[in-house]
Amino acid sequence: MRTPLVAANWKMNGSREFAEQFFAALDLEGLSCAVVICPPYPYLPLVAEKAGEGFSIGAQNLSDETSGAFTGEVSAAMLLDWGVRYAIVGHSERRSLYGESSELVARKFHAAQAAGLVPILCVGESLQEREEERTLEVIASQLQAVTEAAGESAGGDVWSRAVIAYEPVWAIGTGKTATPEQAQEVHRFIRERLGNAGAAVQILYGGSVKAGNAEALFAQADIDGALVGGASLDAEEFSKICRAAG
Ligand code: 13P
Repeated sequence: MRTPLVAANWKMNGSREFAEQFFAALDLEGLSCAVVICPPYPYLPLVAEKAGEGFSIGAQNLSDETSGAFTGEVSAAMLLDWGVRYAIVGHSERRSLYGESSELVARKFHAAQAAGLVPILCVGESLQEREEERTLEVIASQLQAVTEAAGESAGGDVWSRAVIAYEPVWAIGTGKTATPEQAQEVHRFIRERLGNAGAAVQILYGGSVKAGNAEALFAQADIDGALVGGASLDAEEFSKICRAAG
């Protein structure tokens, strides 16, 4: 049985005041799903103070390096120091706006795992790639970059301490959600590609998830939760999404 997981990606939004108000309004009472809050780096300590209250902390990014002269970067060990348990890697905004290649994303994935963090690997196709019917090919290559970077030694263990988020780029922040059936098709494909570990890996859907569409998405066999952007900035809306997950 996979535990449902709902993660909030605040992106570059919020303030100290926002965070205080968010946690005052967040209502996770009685939920059995796992909840992860990923604030911007400066608010990690503030979120860490609250994190006993039914959720874990995640980072939105991390360095592929362990330490040294890398101005502006944050290592996995530093995140662990603040009680962070998860790190998003390969978000489409990082891939498209900051030029992160699948190879760099794969190095970040392994840096997170090596330090004991659980990477949340984002994969997903652009609108053009979907229209050209290349969705599954694109996702297969994003996954393959991670297994290739692991080399032979990792065996089948690459995916056993990881979360995957399927985020179709055309559905992010656009109000357009993949239909539950469209998402399920890709989620099942991803699970099959993960091999033996696949059955136990949580695969989240991301892209305009709201309280109003969460239940239908979560009803699909291979959708284990959500990675939520815009709607995670509203504590009541986000609480409802978590409630829909269980
Ligand atoms: P939205 O929920 O705002 O579409 O963002 C999705 C996302 O990018 C989460 O990482």
